[in-house]
Amino acid sequence: VVALRLEDGVLWALDQTRLPWDEVELPLRSAADVAEAIARLSIRGAPLIGVAAGYGLALELARAGAGVLEGAREVLVNARPTAVNLAHAVDRVALSARRVAPGGDVAGAALAEARAIHGEEIAAGEALGRVGADFLAGAGRDLRVLTHCNTGALAAPGRGTALSVIAELAGRGELELVLVAETRPLLQGARLTTYELRRLGIEHELIVDGAAAGLIAAGEVDAVVLGCDRVAANGDVANKVGTYAHALAAAAAGIPFVVAGPCSTIDPRCPSGAGIVIEERSEDEVRRVGAPSGPGGLELALPGTRCRNPAFDITPAKFVTALVTERGVVRPAAGESVLSVLDGVSAGHEKPTGTE
Ligand code: MRU
Repeated sequence: VVALRLEDGVLWALDQTRLPWDEVELPLRSAADVAEAIARLSIRGAPLIGVAAGYGLALELARAGAGVLEGAREVLVNARPTAVNLAHAVDRVALSARRVAPGGDVAGAALAEARAIHGEEIAAGEALGRVGADFLAGAGRDLRVLTHCNTGALAAPGRGTALSVIAELAGRGELELVLVAETRPLLQGARLTTYELRRLGIEHELIVDGAAAGLIAAGEVDAVVLGCDRVAANGDVANKVGTYAHALAAAAAGIPFVVAGPCSTIDPRCPSGAGIVIEERSEDEVRRVGAPSGPGGLELALPGTRCRNPAFDITPAKFVTALVTERGVVRPAAGESVLSVLDGVSAGHEKPTGTE
């Protein structure tokens, strides 16, 4: 699956709102194009929106000149609030552009930085897959894993995050089954994770979100393995809404709750989950079922029924058995600091704009 590709100054993005039924690429030519594609979830997943936004800023600088830098940065950073990868990537690209000497190639510097971020995320996904599989190995049986939302190549360039761990386990012959939670309201599990697992040839079954706790309690799951959108300094994790319920069920059953993500998803400037902005999306996504930009959809409730639609929730660190990164594993539930994996990492953790 190639979720994003840059060709002749155009960023082509597989429109994830139309998967798995239609494989259609969108041509994106400006920061506004990219921001809009991120906001409507044509491009989604924490690392992927960072990579796309980095390219979006570079495209805008090439199209409109260095004078648009701050405005374009603002448009991209505000496309979605929760995943920190977005701001990390855009700020890195902006910093590289600001450092160009007068008369220098600002757009070229920005594009080089965007490409570097892309390459780093691919490498991180590959490495964390191996780290996570090593961590989960040795359970004495082939694992039955429950996952939520979508964390494969559609969500992070290359092998993905949690799905990279799962694919690595499958490749080593240590995986029996993946239970895929459908992930209401936008069905990233049902639409996207089953699409990816089928292409990877990995055994899986789709469940409704409400079935997860009962199956975990019944002993049908050996580990919950999923991704993250922002990890606070104290180890609290923001991820797709429904994640916290899986964590509670895993804790009650005494099985590992494993979160996989690159270091670019750790936000050292955010002390705890209380400081993470949870995106609230349109009530229509709850009232109707169907792809976000799909035609019509199916009405689930009477017109005018009021809805709440938080797109993410926070899982406290005490429930996170392990955070799997490309730099190793930390155990927040055992009191280990997630910041320990950032030692020596500058990528993605530059000072906020305006402070350099
Ligand atoms: O709203 P989405 O689809 O962008 O949400 C994505 C998630 O919550 C993923 O679980 C997360 O980004 C995992 S990391 C690839």
